[in-house]
Amino acid sequence: MKKLALIVVAGLVVATSCKKDDDNMTTPTPTATMTLYDSLGGTQMVADPSASGQMIEKGRLGIRSVVDSTIFVIAADPKLNGFFPVLLAEVTSGNLSGFQKLSTNLTDFFCVATGAKNFTYKGLNMKDAHDPAKHPRMNGKAGNADFDQFVVDLVAGAKKVGLSDQLIGQVGKVVETTRKDVVQK
Ligand code: HEM
Repeated sequence: MKKLALIVVAGLVVATSCKKDDDNMTTPTPTATMTLYDSLGGTQMVADPSASGQMIEKGRLGIRSVVDSTIFVIAADPKLNGFFPVLLAEVTSGNLSGFQKLSTNLTDFFCVATGAKNFTYKGLNMKDAHDPAKHPRMNGKAGNADFDQFVVDLVAGAKKVGLSDQLIGQVGKVVETTRKDVVQK
């Protein structure tokens, strides 16, 4: 699996090598009325570094950069990458459609969960998404230790793109609310 993971990571790095999402990770000082989404950059429109000529909400860009960075970390993590055989096989063969869908769904999920108003999450609910019987892309049920490792990888992914420790802590609280649905063994 280690070799496969390296190939996958190399593929993902090539696929997204022009991304410089981390340039947009400076955040305003949070106030009592701000949502976490606002703290992550909010609705201010900025150029999308991955799509020439397109604009994107700064909060969404920040979340997407954390999501994509975390997918790289997980793909290289032998403790977790065995849960993702379909995704890894696709990427290894040069098919990025599943990666792009996962990136979009995770980004939408975290946008909505942190208070964004202009996006909706259209993926499976958290229980079904992590039930191998209902979502065959999930290889086996996750336990508490797997969930903890996912959080470790998420923190590593967020640090790689320059998210502050304070914001990482707040994102961690949002993630923790999904534990009861994700952990199924
Ligand atoms: C920590 C909180 C987590 C959140 C918020 C989360 C969220 C999500 C979301 C939104 C999707 C996409 C569902 C869809 O496309 O319909 C997904 C897919 C998936 N998740 Fe999670 N997840 C979490 C933890 C985990 C853990 C701990 C594991 C494994 C140990 C895991 C494994 C997977 C797999 C294998 C998929 C399918 C990937 C694919 O598209 O091939 N997730 N997750």
